[in-house]
Amino acid sequence: MYRLGLIGYPLGHSLSPVLHQAALEEAGLEGEYRLYEIPPQEVEDRLSRLLDDLRHGRVHGLNVTIPYKQRVMAWVDVLTHAARACGAVNTLYVEGERVVGDNTDALGFWEDLRRCFPAVQGSRWRGVVLGAGGAARAVVYALLQQGWPVHVLARRVEQAHELAAHFRAQGLGTVQIHPWEARAHSKVPWLQAELPVLLVNATPVGMHPHSQASPWPEEGPWPPRGAVYDLVYNPRETRFLQAARRAGLPAAGGLGMLIWQAALAFERWTQVPAQSVLLAMGKAVGWVPR
Ligand SMILES: NC(=O)c1ccc[n+]([C@@H]2O[C@H](COP(=O)([O-])OP(=O)(O)OC[C@H]3O[C@@H](n4cnc5c(N)ncnc54)[C@H](OP(=O)(O)O)[C@@H]3O)[C@@H](O)[C@H]2O)c1
Repeated sequence: MYRLGLIGYPLGHSLSPVLHQAALEEAGLEGEYRLYEIPPQEVEDRLSRLLDDLRHGRVHGLNVTIPYKQRVMAWVDVLTHAARACGAVNTLYVEGERVVGDNTDALGFWEDLRRCFPAVQGSRWRGVVLGAGGAARAVVYALLQQGWPVHVLARRVEQAHELAAHFRAQGLGTVQIHPWEARAHSKVPWLQAELPVLLVNATPVGMHPHSQASPWPEEGPWPPRGAVYDLVYNPRETRFLQAARRAGLPAAGGLGMLIWQAALAFERWTQVPAQSVLLAMGKAVGWVPR
């Protein structure tokens, strides 16, 4: 009987229980996936009890979401390379008696990306990432791992400089920072044609209920070649994606990444390969893998 769950606050509309229930059924495993909604004033006590349950086999796996992705790092015994590099934990599991903090967002992003746009694999593109928060870190890490040049555009430039310093300090690569207003400039390096550009929205701009907003000017300038990925998955078709397609660029939304990161977490907990539960997870939320 697998006891799994999600720690965060608030947790109102999480898709995780539906995804993991579908995975448990597909794998023929008995189990449950609970929501542990922990208000900040209770976090010390409840987190320490939950991690104790994990360490002693009373709970078998946990996901972590906002606002505890960074905070939980201080409570684990070991961090994986991805968690340390992204500076955030979204998955907890046990190895022996040690609680491991992992991050499946970066790999989840890359796994979906290379299926949506097979041309990214094994070739050099330029990554242009909008936003400098937790999700942007996972995306930047994934792209630096491919050896791509990466640019970040952020509303708070100081947050972007922190992100760049974090990756530089770990020897993971150099990130170029630009102000948010640079989106509208037509003479910027990422719009030159020498490399295809992957333009990624890692901000919540365009997310329900503000789905009329877009993080990129609809009239452009758009890269002459490349692709667009929006981490927002509600709505599934954002204005950003629609405008990119009108500009002739292939575009994909973030539901695939959400499902991949969940399937990879499920693999950590159960040793059932992510690939083998992906279809069932997708079906449960109306998503078809490419
Ligand atoms: N598909 C997936 O699996 C997946 C996984 C993780 C996250 N996400 C999505 O990715 C988005 C970002 O999540 P996160 O965890 O990175 O959040 P976060 O840590 O709060 O970071 C959000 C970033 O977006 C910027 N931002 C917010 N509103 C903005 C605006 N109006 N204009 C310009 N920049 C703005 C923030 O800048 P400020 O600091 O200036 O506000 C910050 O840099 C969310 O929509 C989330 O649902 C999707």
